[in-house]
Amino acid sequence: MDDFVNKRARQAIFSLKPYVPGKPIDEVKRELGLNDIIKLASNENPLGPSPMAMQAMEQSIKDIHLYPDANSYYLKARLASFTGIDAQSIVLGNGSDEVLMILGLSFLSPGDEVIYADPTFVEYEFTAMVMGANCVTVSLKEYKHDLPAILQAITNNTKMIVICNPNNPTGTIVSESELDIFMQSVPEDILVVFDEAYSEYVESPDFCSGTRYLQQGRNVIILHTFSKIFGLAGLRIGYGLTSPGIAGAMKMATYPFNMNSAAQAAALAALDDQEHVARSRSINSSGKKYLYTEFERMGLNYIRTEANFILLDCGKPSDKVFQELLQQGIIVRNCASYGYKTYIRITVGTSEENQRLIRELGKVLEVE
Ligand SMILES: Cc1ncc(COP(=O)(O)O)c(C=O)c1O
Repeated sequence: MDDFVNKRARQAIFSLKPYVPGKPIDEVKRELGLNDIIKLASNENPLGPSPMAMQAMEQSIKDIHLYPDANSYYLKARLASFTGIDAQSIVLGNGSDEVLMILGLSFLSPGDEVIYADPTFVEYEFTAMVMGANCVTVSLKEYKHDLPAILQAITNNTKMIVICNPNNPTGTIVSESELDIFMQSVPEDILVVFDEAYSEYVESPDFCSGTRYLQQGRNVIILHTFSKIFGLAGLRIGYGLTSPGIAGAMKMATYPFNMNSAAQAAALAALDDQEHVARSRSINSSGKKYLYTEFERMGLNYIRTEANFILLDCGKPSDKVFQELLQQGIIVRNCASYGYKTYIRITVGTSEENQRLIRELGKVLEVE
């Protein structure tokens, strides 16, 4: 590292691990000389966005020389009627990743502790570390959040707890009764973050959104994204639902015009196309069932999911399985970095994509 950077950069930077995204399709095309590639690695919507969202985006382009509405008035008003939470309590970001980062900028200082599960979505660690806060991890128990152990990990320095519900990479949820007991014991002055990026896919009646605790006046924020069921990952748009006080503090730490006008227009239209959402949920549900049946036929263990991805135990090193699937033009997520050395995470695709995955997986694992 260059001397200037060593001396002058913030020390917190040096302990960060760079995020490794799912391999982009174009990169695999270039590297392997393949043409027919499917990406089942980043939990995107295989149907793409709503046609209404695409049309709204196209229309917004004619005004692209103008700055966007800094307060995203129409989108916040639409989200307020969609969620039942006041517009002044909604924080928008360039993906829910940015909402999380704004939260870190507004609330985390060096020495604060942030508790989250292990393994879970990696951005909680990134946000805590970039702010110089201390990460406290609590292992999952049978692939699920261990809420009693999280309560035990609370100290006087705990500033924030993050619950990813459903959890990435396991797809598991915490039930309503577990959450109620947990929230009764969490001190009021700890900010609880519920990341509900995949909540629209949940089928279990046991699921409960963190919004209920917001309505009870607790210090919570619920993160949502347009990257998953709404199919707008490339546009980068997400939001947080919180109290007016927390939203006001976060606004102070947000630069103006962080929400581009195309994203505002597309998100607004996407919310109005609930038919597309229902269709996306339905192909996910049938894809999930097909994959479960095939994994069982192949004698493979998997974790039942409430999201649009499945954690699968391949029974052999996932590094190798990942590479071999890649050679066949199928990109999945290698879960070795999560500590699951024989697991891959597979996004539920279209029925053709799921069938192709099963064919190739059968060959790679020799269990056709
Ligand atoms: C649990 C979870 N939260 C948030 C995100 C990121 O969402 P966004 O694209 O809105 O930044 C992801 C992306 O994979 C995720 O898995």
